[in-house]
Amino acid sequence: MKHLFLSFAATLVVLTSCQTQTPDYHGAWYSVNHHAVMIIELGADSLANFSSEASSSLCFSGPYTVEVSSDTLLIDMPQTTSGMAASGIMRYNADQTMDICMNFGAPGMTERPTTFDATPGVLTMMSFHCQRDKEAAAQQANGVIKAPKDASLAFERNRRLGHGINIESTVDGNENPSYFTAGRSIADDVRSIAEAGFNSVRLPVNFYKHCSAVAPYYIDADFFAKVDGIIEACNKEQLPVVLDLHYYPNISFYGKDSLISDEDNLLRLESIWRQVAEHYQMVSDEMLYFDLMNEPTLEFGADNWNKEVVRLINIIRPINPGRTMLVMTPELGQNWTINYLDLPEEENNLIVEYHYYLPHLFTHQGLAFAMAENSYQIPWLGTPEEKAAVDNDLDYIASWSKSHNRPVNMGEFGVVNSADHESRVRWLSYVYEAAHQRGISSHQWSLRDNFGIRDNQTGVWDADILEAIRPTFHNK
Ligand code: GLC
Repeated sequence: MKHLFLSFAATLVVLTSCQTQTPDYHGAWYSVNHHAVMIIELGADSLANFSSEASSSLCFSGPYTVEVSSDTLLIDMPQTTSGMAASGIMRYNADQTMDICMNFGAPGMTERPTTFDATPGVLTMMSFHCQRDKEAAAQQANGVIKAPKDASLAFERNRRLGHGINIESTVDGNENPSYFTAGRSIADDVRSIAEAGFNSVRLPVNFYKHCSAVAPYYIDADFFAKVDGIIEACNKEQLPVVLDLHYYPNISFYGKDSLISDEDNLLRLESIWRQVAEHYQMVSDEMLYFDLMNEPTLEFGADNWNKEVVRLINIIRPINPGRTMLVMTPELGQNWTINYLDLPEEENNLIVEYHYYLPHLFTHQGLAFAMAENSYQIPWLGTPEEKAAVDNDLDYIASWSKSHNRPVNMGEFGVVNSADHESRVRWLSYVYEAAHQRGISSHQWSLRDNFGIRDNQTGVWDADILEAIRPTFHNK
């Protein structure tokens, strides 16, 4: 009996000490976010560092505090390197894992989350399920890797794209007649692009505005003729064309069309690609590539996109057996969502495409549509930290490309032309080089408009930008 009492008392002591002792949360933790490993270091020196292998936009650090409140721990970061503050909750689990949920906001304006699962769709909230084992986290992030056995043709075609430029606002629905008032034609623009040394062109096209309202959604012959003319002009200058289905309601970054059902919207998309594939069946595979969709949205999501890609490939492939197709990363063509893609292993003639605009408030400063209307005069100085952020992001892309045996294209990268000119030149040149050193082809965004690098009226290029990228042109 005495023995029993002693052991009960001992258990009580252990239990009481477990309850009162704060678990040791310090040190390095690994969590899977955006299908990539996130390293979370909670330093004993009161500094916390969150770094995502996938994206510099998810890397931040700063002082932190942890306070015990009943069975939860309250974590606070009053000022992080990303200029935000964060309030969160932490929980240490019996299996030695830890959960953290954090809500970000302007300093002094953060709202502490009440659950450990970030509310879906609330972009300011992130949850991390943390473990101590980095390898285990990496395995969870990657899952089963599907890589085609031989993708040499697709890699060759990607090299051929080299460094090109987007000819936007021409047939994508944003056309402005004043672009050609100086007596120039699209053929003049294309010649100028070739003379400047670009290797290829990405052509954003808005087909859905030019097809019949009901099935089978015939594409207007005059519009096809217009697009044909641009492709022919490019091919005449030996510039291969990436035909990009740019704006498409309810699926790509564009807007809503409430008049069409989701099902019909997909049927129309598939009909458009069937017609495009038939129309360009005879154009050389070396000179024309198909880019299935620009920036499929967050709402459309990765699962829908992965399924739709397979359906589109199944439509196009029998009509164009040798055509190289570009597949955009889900959730707005981000770099960090590349590992969301689930591409059919047996389809080996694909190039994966992402867009690069980080840091967002620098590249899009002043632009309301990008929620950056209050950002002005943000420089990019090319500091070691700024360069390391680009390297972090492109290393991740390059390592994904290697493990998945898929070539990668950076189909858009650019800086709004109201940004400080020197910063713009520095960023374009650094990002361009960083991509090409890693075997990533690229298309600058863009020829004209607010990201343009060439004057619409005079046809004169921004000499500094051209010079910054010319010496390193890939195929020249
Ligand atoms: C996307 C959009 C385009 C925008 C660009 C830069 O391609 O479709 O309209 O200008 O990104 O944000």
